[in-house]
Amino acid sequence: MKLVAISGSLRGASLNRRLLDLSLRVLEKEGAQVDRVDLRALELPFYDGDLEAASGLPAGAQELVARIAASDGLVIASPEYNYSVPAVLKNAIDWVTRAKPMPLRGKTAVLMSASPSLVGGNRGLWVLRMSLEVVGVHVYPDMFSLASAQAAFDDAGELGDEALGRFLRFVLTGFARTTRLHAQPPA
Ligand code: FNR
Repeated sequence: MKLVAISGSLRGASLNRRLLDLSLRVLEKEGAQVDRVDLRALELPFYDGDLEAASGLPAGAQELVARIAASDGLVIASPEYNYSVPAVLKNAIDWVTRAKPMPLRGKTAVLMSASPSLVGGNRGLWVLRMSLEVVGVHVYPDMFSLASAQAAFDDAGELGDEALGRFLRFVLTGFARTTRLHAQPPA
């Protein structure tokens, strides 16, 4: 099972990146091979139809398309910005959906968020879910949102709250099972 991992936050000290790192450790134990995408490292200008008409997809978008095409599913941890999806993540999705063939169709995805707030960024995930489902991604029903995330991690990068840690593993192992089923070649 090959997974592409994306953080919707670019900053080094990102709480979402910490949640993603923790989740990837769990998924790697489940046997996943993980390709970590750093959106900051990709050449991804704002989507512009004139740019696309003149020169097609920029190099960063082409690279992302290829990496998603080589995967079985996506693991995304993203903050909500003003109850919605950070522009950098939405822009990346918009470019990828312009590719032919479009690599997102038929992939699975699990969505997570972290925020210092009490809602944990969950509202943004519903907006993200909509953009992904509409292009044919099987978004895993359970989502994981980490509230008060600035105080949630211990020194080892694990969740201090045991019950929360159990729920995260429950979501991720279910997602891994679903992705393995989707990834099976037709009999
Ligand atoms: C935020 N933040 C935020 N938090 C939240 O729970 N709901 C929200 O709607 C918003 N909106 C928002 C907009 C913008 C432009 C910024 C920069 C921030 C706060 C956000 O959750 C907090 O900064 C997180 O720490 C960002 O995630 P990372 O970078 O730590 O992963």
